[in-house]
Amino acid sequence: MSVGILTSGGDAPGMNAAVRAVFRSIKMREPAREIVFFRGGFRGLARKLDSSTERNVQRQETRGIIHRGGTFLGTGRVPELKVTREDAPDRVARLAAQESFLRVAAVNLFQMEVSDLVVIGGDGSFAGARLIARHFREMFPDRPFRVLGLPGTIDNDIWGTDYSIGFDTALNNVVDAIRKIRDTVESHKRVIILEVMGNTSGWLALQSAIAGGASVVAIPEVPASHDHEHIVRRLISGFERDYRYFIIVYAEGVAKQHGEGWAQQLRRRIESNATLVRLHGGTPMEVRLNSIGHLARGGSPSALDNTLAGLLGTAAADVILDGRLPDDAPVDGDVMVGCAGPRPVVHSLDEVIARSPRLVTEDSPLYRIAQNLMLSADQPF
Ligand code: F6P
Repeated sequence: MSVGILTSGGDAPGMNAAVRAVFRSIKMREPAREIVFFRGGFRGLARKLDSSTERNVQRQETRGIIHRGGTFLGTGRVPELKVTREDAPDRVARLAAQESFLRVAAVNLFQMEVSDLVVIGGDGSFAGARLIARHFREMFPDRPFRVLGLPGTIDNDIWGTDYSIGFDTALNNVVDAIRKIRDTVESHKRVIILEVMGNTSGWLALQSAIAGGASVVAIPEVPASHDHEHIVRRLISGFERDYRYFIIVYAEGVAKQHGEGWAQQLRRRIESNATLVRLHGGTPMEVRLNSIGHLARGGSPSALDNTLAGLLGTAAADVILDGRLPDDAPVDGDVMVGCAGPRPVVHSLDEVIARSPRLVTEDSPLYRIAQNLMLSADQPF
């Protein structure tokens, strides 16, 4: 039986190293085991096989990729694998499209004799993989088949792992951007309002704001943090302590909650606040809006991301070949391999999907750090 590998959802730096690690760790122990690459994410599973699959992959195909950002296998988001709402107007058509996608994917996996499908992606990709696995088992109950998820997303919002592949690189990219922005903001004594990706979670914004020395951070999980009035009070207390420029980092999840106008409204609030205008010598502070966007996702993976990819890829190979991690109990069914500190851990994929996205809480140590290090509305010193 062969092992299939694909990358799915938003690309994340380190995905290449993860594919390479799974491939090499399996081949090291079982050189004859066939490995199949599916290109373009789940789409590659549901196309005419030869157009998007690579059978019997050889070592040289995993050479020269570890330093490259993105995913050399390609990726994508597949609407057919999304949950269809009960009240969706085109529900019937959507369910039919999903059924046909799942059927083709299952038949292709059967024909390629894939018994283990490694999916490197986020919780949305895991949910899609689960659907495919269920369909496969219904169609081919006598064939062994399981999904192994490896967490790969810059959002770091997957339950069951301390870190996901790609987060560290994105974090460094964002901190680098904050440092560059600081040069210009400081020169002009302005306020910058900077959007950082993260989907519905605030991890990337929070940690980059801490590491980049931002004045204020707003994350979707903590409503007070995105209250305009509260942010303005923080700037005032900073101004009273001789701060003359401010970097406000906010997670894209805040804009998802309030609408795209959230940052524009904050800008107007800052420009029109009478106290700030007075402190600024009778004129409004100048405010600029910026978004780091997809720049956070690009570039060479960090050493930490490639190391994590190596750890998780090696552990996935152990689960595929031995049914368990070394010195651990056997595992069954679809699973995700994550990390707890420097050690790999295995969780049932259903539990990971049910408990993701993992969100920041007000008592998360990182949020407490931010409160101590950034400006507060009633700054005591
Ligand atoms: O999940 C990774 C991520 O970069 C999120 O932070 C962001 O919300 C989303 O993907 C953007 O997706 P796309 O690249 O499809 O626009």
